Amino acid sequence: MPKSVFISNVLPQAARDLIPKDVSVDYNETDTPLPKSELMTRLRGKDGLVCQIITTVDDEVLAQAPSLRVVANVAVGYNNIDVAAARRRGVVVTNTPDVLTETTADFAWTLLMAAARRVVEADRFARSGRWTRWQWDLLWGADVHGKTLGIVGFGRIGRAVARRALGFDMRVLYHDAVRADAAAERELRAAPTDLATLLRESDFVTLHTNLTAETRHLIDARTLRTMKPSAILVNASRGPVVDEAALARALREGWIAAAGLDVFEEEPTIHPDLLPLTNVVMAPHIASASGETRLAMATLAVKNCLAVLEGKPPLTPVP
Ligand code: GLV
Repeated sequence: MPKSVFISNVLPQAARDLIPKDVSVDYNETDTPLPKSELMTRLRGKDGLVCQIITTVDDEVLAQAPSLRVVANVAVGYNNIDVAAARRRGVVVTNTPDVLTETTADFAWTLLMAAARRVVEADRFARSGRWTRWQWDLLWGADVHGKTLGIVGFGRIGRAVARRALGFDMRVLYHDAVRADAAAERELRAAPTDLATLLRESDFVTLHTNLTAETRHLIDARTLRTMKPSAILVNASRGPVVDEAALARALREGWIAAAGLDVFEEEPTIHPDLLPLTNVVMAPHIASASGETRLAMATLAVKNCLAVLEGKPPLTPVP
């Protein structure tokens, strides 16, 4: 039987070209999420799905696609997929780690620097016509070098963020359920610590954890209250790791100084209380969005899908 694949959203031609001619492809070339009913209709009879984080693959969707053998997510995070349900149904789930690590770490640093040095406020001011003279106390920010960086989630991306901190001569603390080996800690000059200590002592806290039941609202009113009033929070993981309403209050009332956010609880909606605040730099979930990296992610997802359809082990199954 010829195999068939559904690509549920736009994907670069170069990645789609990897699919052999004898595999039939149903391609939704838009970047809008499909209604669940349409997703289920188009998945009927398919062997593989290549999807992005805007596609929710839950048990109900899987139940309608009994021939499905693989869901290849074009992302490292996979909270849009019910992995346990997929396993139960014998469906392999893959993601795209490694290829986006450095690009995502670059962007976490972009947010950190932008929030610390008030780059977005400065840009707005420079364009506004209000810049009429050199000003001694104009847009003072916070130094980054020599400060303490707290990394929550010390996997691939967290470690790539730590490596960049070496150049800023920072003290690096990390918190993770799994302790890194001694060589990695030495090389990255990173010390393991409990979350409470990390939040209390860090000048910058950057989140690089998966979204799970344990990490949902890890940063909430209670934990925000324990951070330094001068602290800056960066989130390039998943929005729901942070309680956005509590963060907006913390930023407004000065419990912490600033934040840099790439992800939000209800994307693409941003909590209205965040919008008027000048001490938050926001981006529309673009941490992995360089041309090279997005192509590498798409290519890896297609290769994962094809490997499973050919009866081979996927390159990067979710753990
Ligand atoms: C993007 O958010 C990803 O998980 O790759």
